[in-house]
Amino acid sequence: MDRQAFYRDPYPVYAEARRAPGLTFVPELDAWLVSRREDVREVLSSPDVFSSAGAMRPDHVPGPAALAELAKGCGGVQAVLTADGDAHRRLRRPLTRALSPARVAATLPFVRERAEALVAGFAADGRVEWMSAYAEPLPAAVAGRLLGLDPEDTPGAVRAARRAEELLFTELDEEGQVAAAREVVGLQHLLDAYARARRSDPRDDLVTDMVRDFAPGDGELTPDQRREIVSNLENALLAGHLTTTALLGVVVLDLLRDRRQWELLCERPELVPAAIEEAARFEAPVQGFRRTVRRPVRVGGTELGEGDVVFVSYASAGRDAEAESRPDEFDITRPASRHLSFGLGPHGCPGTHLAKEQVRITLELLLRELPGLRLADQEVVMAPTLIHRSPEALHLEW
Ligand code: HEM
Repeated sequence: MDRQAFYRDPYPVYAEARRAPGLTFVPELDAWLVSRREDVREVLSSPDVFSSAGAMRPDHVPGPAALAELAKGCGGVQAVLTADGDAHRRLRRPLTRALSPARVAATLPFVRERAEALVAGFAADGRVEWMSAYAEPLPAAVAGRLLGLDPEDTPGAVRAARRAEELLFTELDEEGQVAAAREVVGLQHLLDAYARARRSDPRDDLVTDMVRDFAPGDGELTPDQRREIVSNLENALLAGHLTTTALLGVVVLDLLRDRRQWELLCERPELVPAAIEEAARFEAPVQGFRRTVRRPVRVGGTELGEGDVVFVSYASAGRDAEAESRPDEFDITRPASRHLSFGLGPHGCPGTHLAKEQVRITLELLLRELPGLRLADQEVVMAPTLIHRSPEALHLEW
């Protein structure tokens, strides 16, 4: 199968895998696909059997020229997503603190202010390309603020973080890879400068939390500490905004594709939280991550050996007919779904609340300001990546 086509629409492959006995080995993933909700739940709940070490294995390994560029950087060591056991608990601690309900609540006035300013920027135009005008800039500004970046540093940092993802998860020629690698190295040096500045001048932000946790004491940061802090900040910047961009894209797309769902939401705005859950279930923004088998185990009827790699599909779990009635219908009146689109177990998403609050504020704003919203173009192309399922562009009018 054409790899790009699979990345743009993996759902038929998931459906076939759910029907097939045992697990299905998918060559495009180079992994065993875990597709049924019960199996996904079991793998995510058994970190002693399934290691996260290869969770973010790139779909495209950068060539030597890009690797030489990356060597000039200041990151490249283990981040929370790929750590196990005690190391994982240590790396996760500053994130749960920075993303606690109280810290998220303190961010909401900023989210609201940015959201309103972005919508005000295009409300009079009668049309907008939603992804670039809103779905990308809102979570980017919020992620920059979470880290504690100056507003003027945020756009460049976010663009470079996106380039890091492109480098690993899309096909680039050598020149493109080198250019992306240069931007990534620039971002690492910027984050490193922030880490050193916060050492002497702590603030209420994620950079400070990480500096405190990963480098106890008050001496100068060592090169190893700096690499660890930078790698984890880079990871948080990426995890914190592209995921939310994807959900802001798919929730609007799903509500407008069958516009009766949008009309229903206009009549019953109390369904906003349900609409968010339904979009997360229906088009999981993060389609799946990998795990590596540590010792022989049987999953869904298939024997796996040490070193085997599985791709755990939160997206497929959301469409499992054994767990959900009419799984291929988007329905905001669906009774609460136990989808797994924010993960489960020790690596379950620490940013869930922040992400959902951004989408809630957005939908409430759209219901109030642009109730006449509709798709300007029914032909929507999804980006060819499983890391963040999002429309390439989403043209809306009202
Ligand atoms: C719609 C938005 C989001 C979705 C769908 C999402 C989804 C996920 C999923 C599925 C995981 C589990 C990874 C695994 O099992 O290995 C995860 C982990 C993570 N997410 Fe999110 N996420 C979102 C927003 C955010 C936000 C706003 C942040 C803020 C920084 C964030 C930070 C993280 C981090 C740091 C991890 C790694 C946690 C660990 O390994 O212990 N995410 N996310």
